[in-house]
Amino acid sequence: MSPDEMKRQAALKAIELVEPGMRLGLGTGSTARHFVDLLGAKVKAGLDVICVPTSNVTRVQAESLGIRLTTLDETPELDLTVDGADELTDDLALIKGGGGALLREKIVAMASDRMVVIADLSKRVPRLGAFPLPVEIVRFGWRSTEDWVHSCLEEAGCSGAVTLRRLAGGEAFITDNGNYILDCALGRIDDPDILHDLLKSAPGVVETGLFLGIADTAFVADANGVVTLRAPDDET
Ligand code: 5RP
Repeated sequence: MSPDEMKRQAALKAIELVEPGMRLGLGTGSTARHFVDLLGAKVKAGLDVICVPTSNVTRVQAESLGIRLTTLDETPELDLTVDGADELTDDLALIKGGGGALLREKIVAMASDRMVVIADLSKRVPRLGAFPLPVEIVRFGWRSTEDWVHSCLEEAGCSGAVTLRRLAGGEAFITDNGNYILDCALGRIDDPDILHDLLKSAPGVVETGLFLGIADTAFVADANGVVTLRAPDDET
């Protein structure tokens, strides 16, 4: 089974959770894209749901499929968000933001009763950190913020290169919120909670790609099927 088919299998599990009338958060990335496609097919067949997209890319996809959209300003509480991840551990700590949508993804997930992660096997890790941690920062004074980020990493016992994310042409990547992203290649993160708290204390840091205690369930697909992982406090 190809990685893309595994992503689709995980999305198929998540679509089973969708019920008529639900308020949904729609994630961003190649895995979430499958979920939105499947949802679009259900909407076409008559399902009535209302959704908040986590990025402009997902908004455009959802609109093209005729999915009814709203904003968190109009609908501040959601029932379910389904999103991908760059890394996840078995207790559902995540790294997200590979697609640059981490801030809206975190706001939408935290506005939801339930966050479900969909992923292929390659995302499941024993410890976070092999994937470079994205950190969204404001553009003003970004070099100073980069220095702060270095200090925070050191204080958290982490080390590695910190790189301003750039597009293929060399220009800086700008998020949907008008910010920059620093990618922190740490190799391993021994204490994600401490690292997250330290980074958030730095002026200029908007949000980190560490999603800790947010996801409730994950559907992880491999060649043999889909494994369900649950957060330690998940009661569903
Ligand atoms: C975007 C994200 C994505 O969910 C994450 O990068 C996974 O993407 P993909 O499903 O394409 O591997 O966090 O900001």
